[in-house]
Amino acid sequence: MSKSKRISLKHFVTVESLSNAEILGLIKRGAEFKYGAKFIPEKEEYFVSNLFFENSTRTLNSFVVAEKKMNLKVLPFDAGHSSVQKGETLYDTVLTLSALGVDVCVIRHSQQDYYHELIQSKTIQPAIINGGDGSGQHPSQCLLDLMTIYEEFHYFENLNVAIIGDITHSRVAKSNMQVLKRLGANIYFSGPTEWYSNQFNVYGEHQEIDELIPKMDVVMLLRVQHERHDGTESFSKEDYHQKYGLTIAREKKMKQAAIIMHPAPVNRDVEIASVLVESLKSRIVAQMTNGVFVRMAILEAILNGKT
Ligand code: CP
Repeated sequence: MSKSKRISLKHFVTVESLSNAEILGLIKRGAEFKYGAKFIPEKEEYFVSNLFFENSTRTLNSFVVAEKKMNLKVLPFDAGHSSVQKGETLYDTVLTLSALGVDVCVIRHSQQDYYHELIQSKTIQPAIINGGDGSGQHPSQCLLDLMTIYEEFHYFENLNVAIIGDITHSRVAKSNMQVLKRLGANIYFSGPTEWYSNQFNVYGEHQEIDELIPKMDVVMLLRVQHERHDGTESFSKEDYHQKYGLTIAREKKMKQAAIIMHPAPVNRDVEIASVLVESLKSRIVAQMTNGVFVRMAILEAILNGKT
């Protein structure tokens, strides 16, 4: 991998706003951090706050690990014990942290596009990193997925990528389909048609999973987002696995060099047979590991943008 170029970002809220060169630069920088590169701060201290208003294990903790590896000062924030419980808005919470001198806020919130009023404010100083907005975007997950694919194949051009499952509710799918298409991959979709929208046809075509599996290089499974459903789905968990999931029989039909991805958390034996989660073709654990290093690259680009 060639050496990455220095990237500066004011905020990191979507991947669509990044150029291909910035995307490739961030994933290459992530790889450099993975293999031992160190962050060189330009200021003595930087303060970071991770404001998670929706549950998270991977995104929150990998940002915390990334921040600690970079010797940033991490403020503890627990939405359940903050003044949000007294009715304080997200805007006023970030305004407060801005007044305290916080440099970066990593935010996950259920409201789609919550970040617009924060990045448009003339008063709010911290850079905003989007850790996921409702059913909108999950840009740092997109970059760690790209880093994992690039680590495996070293290119994106003409790779066949299947995005399978709960596409309508998935913020991961929306970021990935747009960026992977832009980078030259061929995108295919599968899963229940009630969780698909024709608006995605501009990125790829929807096909039955059994047609797709033998020709894919990347099989990207999505979590069934029970918390965003109204209970009117036409299938049970068992039906889902047999009709739309990566069963053991389907995995055997994958290309030899193909890989399995899933952003996790995984509903075992729903999206994917439990035994396949840690199988030879699976990169699900690698995705989690790469999350730390790509988030270091994002934080570094944001801090570069502040100097
Ligand atoms: N993939 C992902 O965003 O996981 P968490 O919800 O645990 O952060």
